[in-house]
Amino acid sequence: MVIETERLLLREFTHEDFPALFEMFSDPETMRHYPKPFDENRTKDWIEWNLQNYKDYGFGLWAVVLKKTGDFIGDCGLTIQNIDGDLLPEIGYHINKKYWRRGFGSEAARAVRDWAFEHTEYDCLYSYMKYTNIGSYSTAMANGMKKIKEYSDEKNEISYVYAITRKEWSALER
Ligand SMILES: CC(C)(COP(=O)(O)OP(=O)(O)OC[C@H]1O[C@@H](n2cnc3c(N)ncnc32)[C@H](O)[C@@H]1OP(=O)(O)O)[C@@H](O)C(=O)NCCC(=O)NCCS
Repeated sequence: MVIETERLLLREFTHEDFPALFEMFSDPETMRHYPKPFDENRTKDWIEWNLQNYKDYGFGLWAVVLKKTGDFIGDCGLTIQNIDGDLLPEIGYHINKKYWRRGFGSEAARAVRDWAFEHTEYDCLYSYMKYTNIGSYSTAMANGMKKIKEYSDEKNEISYVYAITRKEWSALER
């Protein structure tokens, strides 16, 4: 287990998470801001990518689990992403739509932000998304981030970039 919050546990993924993860990643509504939902192979590759990230960096996207029931509800964590040509630490999240709009995404994202500033040397953390992804950028704002940039790219047409600096984080009331 990596992080505990009021309602959630964040822990490393294992291959056993495949069915629950695939249910989320294969859902067209959840993935409507992506080019297409993930198929089985894409989901398996995604798990492998994270297992490798844990080894290479000591972090990755983690499984988000409800403390009360043990139910898997999504993923949230830190990865290195190419954002407009720069490799930057990015907080990412996906929550199973059964659990949307109950504050779980922002509760997980805030915990990952705090973990990252406490356990890494990064001076700025980022979240980026397709410009149409209101849920995603609202979660970034709930995470204390501000929009710092937008740029055109092939994947998202237009990407929005949100960020919070270590200094801004230190000044937050937590
Ligand atoms: C983005 C996502 C993880 C948010 O999860 P969540 O648990 O519903 O988020 P929260 O309940 O913590 O909401 C956080 C904020 O976003 C807002 N929000 C969430 N979904 C929203 C939506 N569809 N439209 C408008 N606002 C939304 C909430 O109102 C809240 O704002 P507030 O702090 O001002 O009250 C979820 O919508 C999701 O899984 N989306 C699909 C996957 C995805 O696109 N991930 C991001 C890839 S870049």
